[in-house]
Amino acid sequence: MSILIRDAVEGDVEGIARVHVQGWRESYRDFLRPEALAGLSVEERMQMWQGAFAQPDPRAKLLVAQTDDGGIVGFVRGGPIREGAEQLGTEAEIFAIYLLDKVKRRGIGLRLMRGVLDHLGRHGFRSVGLWVLKDNLSARRFYEALGGQSGAEQSFDLRGQMVVEVAYRFDLTPGMDRAAPMMDPRPLR
Ligand SMILES: CC(C)(COP(=O)(O)OP(=O)(O)OC[C@H]1O[C@@H](n2cnc3c(N)ncnc32)[C@H](O)[C@@H]1OP(=O)(O)O)[C@@H](O)C(=O)NCCC(=O)NCCS
Repeated sequence: MSILIRDAVEGDVEGIARVHVQGWRESYRDFLRPEALAGLSVEERMQMWQGAFAQPDPRAKLLVAQTDDGGIVGFVRGGPIREGAEQLGTEAEIFAIYLLDKVKRRGIGLRLMRGVLDHLGRHGFRSVGLWVLKDNLSARRFYEALGGQSGAEQSFDLRGQMVVEVAYRFDLTPGMDRAAPMMDPRPLR
């Protein structure tokens, strides 16, 4: 199965929303209670993702991973830091990255992150942050493999369950290949 990474278009909203919901259910079942996952709705997520197209920002990037048959199996979105996320202390932010279980650990997450970090670097952002659930060890190892540095922690009520998140920070260096020095040097797969 070959995977194409491309910019998302408005017609991808349903595919992105489906991956978002299925990604939560597959990836968070070991550390979120079933009640926290039960209320997830594709329709609600579609409305949320529609917003990304309603107010386009050229500094933000939404990429999808697509299989040969056109199915969306992953996505990433990053852009300027959002209001309320200043605690990350970075200029830009990764808002979400999700892959379905069936395509994990094939370098697709790496390709998605590279695409967004390169884009943010070209737009002059020098630092990128994100929040990840503390118990989400596979994602934390992924960010660490990409050169992310862990930092502050915060706890909050996630659909009725208290959870702790850890901040990760990526420093982008100036130049055309801003994201490259701290990223995995292997060729894209
Ligand atoms: C986190 C995620 C995006 C990683 O994407 P991926 O395509 O599976 O990761 P890659 O294949 O690009 O991995 C690159 C490197 O990261 C590290 N890594 C990735 N997953 C890992 C894991 N589960 N355990 C340990 N290290 C891991 C490895 O060093 C890996 O290189 P290697 O496979 O040569 O050893 C993906 O697993 C995912 O969507 N998870 C569920 C959603 C999620 O948790 N999102 C984060 C929300 S903040």
